[in-house]
Amino acid sequence: MDGGDASLLNEAAARAGRYLESLRTRPVSPTADALERLGALCGPLPERGEDPAQVLRLLDEVGSPATVGSAGGRYFGFVIGGALPAALAANWLAGAWDQNAAVEAMSPIAARLEETALAWIREALGLPPGARGAFVTGDTMANLSGLAAARHAVLEAAGWDVEARGLFGAPAVSVVVGEEVHVSVLKALALLGFGRDRVVRVPADEQGRIRADRFPELSGPSIVCAQAGNVNTGAFDPARELCERAHRSGAWVHFDAAFGLWARASPDRRRLTAGIEDADSWAIDAHKWLNVPYDSGAVFVRDGRHLRAAMAGAPAAYLPRSLEGEPMEYVPEMSRRARGVDAWAALRSLGRSGLADLVDRCCRHAARMASLLRAGGYRILNEVDLNQVLVSFGNDDETRRVIAAVQKDGTCWCGGTVWHGTTAMRISVSSWATTEDDVDRSASAILRIASDRSL
Ligand SMILES: Cc1ncc(COP(=O)(O)O)c(C=O)c1O
Repeated sequence: MDGGDASLLNEAAARAGRYLESLRTRPVSPTADALERLGALCGPLPERGEDPAQVLRLLDEVGSPATVGSAGGRYFGFVIGGALPAALAANWLAGAWDQNAAVEAMSPIAARLEETALAWIREALGLPPGARGAFVTGDTMANLSGLAAARHAVLEAAGWDVEARGLFGAPAVSVVVGEEVHVSVLKALALLGFGRDRVVRVPADEQGRIRADRFPELSGPSIVCAQAGNVNTGAFDPARELCERAHRSGAWVHFDAAFGLWARASPDRRRLTAGIEDADSWAIDAHKWLNVPYDSGAVFVRDGRHLRAAMAGAPAAYLPRSLEGEPMEYVPEMSRRARGVDAWAALRSLGRSGLADLVDRCCRHAARMASLLRAGGYRILNEVDLNQVLVSFGNDDETRRVIAAVQKDGTCWCGGTVWHGTTAMRISVSSWATTEDDVDRSASAILRIASDRSL
């Protein structure tokens, strides 16, 4: 690399540093003006190339102001984690390495860091020591991968090789989900040929937890999809009871645990997930609560043979195979980025205690936000045990007005949802960057807007 290239990267670092600094003071939402200027980045493909420094300058000057400030401390939309400094920096270095993590021969370091980060996650979250993990793009693909392993296992037990023969003529598989199942699980089920509408839905309680007393009797090949961390309330399905009942009839239990499984990193919150270690597969996100840059998630399967059987595909002479299995034999993709690098750096920089503290801090901030809004006279709709808060500002129209005005105001960003027929503001505290001051500033902006009906 010549000096010109290095100076371009230095320039990118300086611009990125200024960008992160600006998040303290700029509105969280991009202004209409900033979005208007995006036209400068579009238009037809230029005939002649431009100087890379000019390209970077244009991207920063026009692009940065048009971003949503979700990397800052006052973004509470969806479930969006920040990017820890070590994870972000490692991600840049890994970008320069440009490794393909498909097979070990392409990048021994990518394979070693994936393996190490997965072992650390498995241990920190108290999953069975023999469970096999794999990095994927996010929780949707982790659900797909875990459920593909489930499909393989329950049909293999029924004497059917689903990877070779497909689902045509296969024994029927019963699939059970909770009434509050996340849409990504339904998407995964549809992609796997199970059908979104063919599932048995078990009623849930007022927090969205599957009611174990309404769990159906199962027979034949069956898969149960449970949830750790409802996307609205943060509630957990009763893992111990569900696993016991499902396993009695030989069913596979898969947990969609995008952010909820991280509660296990905290000694104070592990109780929320009691019994989840008895499941057969778990899907988690790393870009949510581990706070690595997008995109990153992981699947863990108690008996990795099933994941490998579902994902390995047919051999090709030019692709190495190994006894233990190459990384690509456990995931849907072939070529893939080295996601283990960012996850390794996040975990190495946090340590076990830092990870617990990250989870606990977000939960404390959520509880503080809930109590400030409750003290302001507004109704909190969920039990705030985790990092999620649902607030109603009186009636649905008023709540919608407050959400829209908060987004426009730009002090913070909160989205909306409908929970059991009531429109609610959703607040998700998922970033290392959020401070108590961010919570207080955001709560006072929300309360100011809620009390001023002219906004
Ligand atoms: C419970 C749950 N499952 C699945 C997902 C989908 O995750 P991803 O967007 O990483 O695919 C989410 C995202 O918010 C979630 O909260």
